[in-house]
Amino acid sequence: MKILILNGPNLNLLGRREPSIYGNLTFDEYFETLKKKYNNIALHYYQSNVEGELINKLHEVGFSFDGVILNAGAYTHTSVAIGDAIKGIETPVIEVHISNVHAREEFRHVSYIAPNAKGVIAGFGLQSYELALMSFL
Ligand code: DQA
Repeated sequence: MKILILNGPNLNLLGRREPSIYGNLTFDEYFETLKKKYNNIALHYYQSNVEGELINKLHEVGFSFDGVILNAGAYTHTSVAIGDAIKGIETPVIEVHISNVHAREEFRHVSYIAPNAKGVIAGFGLQSYELALMSFL
């Protein structure tokens, strides 16, 4: 099984960025433990701060991978183009968030990903990614 974890803008700063919201662990540290725990899955990871690069990656994997776990960061709340990209591919996409976006500012309650996603997981810290992964098993 081939799964891609795709992280959007500012998520390269995990571990340093607003630790009271996003925690102290870097994504690379978390990804290593996840890969060890699920070593029977071909788990891939890509991060970009650039909207078009996220779209290119969705196109690249979207007809051959079994799933995408997408944290589009702030693009979740703004990007019609990423929403359209998800509509245009065959691979199911799960929207994840580290924080509970529904308990935060109102602009974070809007998602252009959710209407096109298989499901949404938010608010479980980095464990949100593992919960999404488990749903593909
Ligand atoms: C986030 C929530 C978004 O609103 C925010 O812009 C992020 C991170 C999360 O994982 O909680 O960058 O997607």
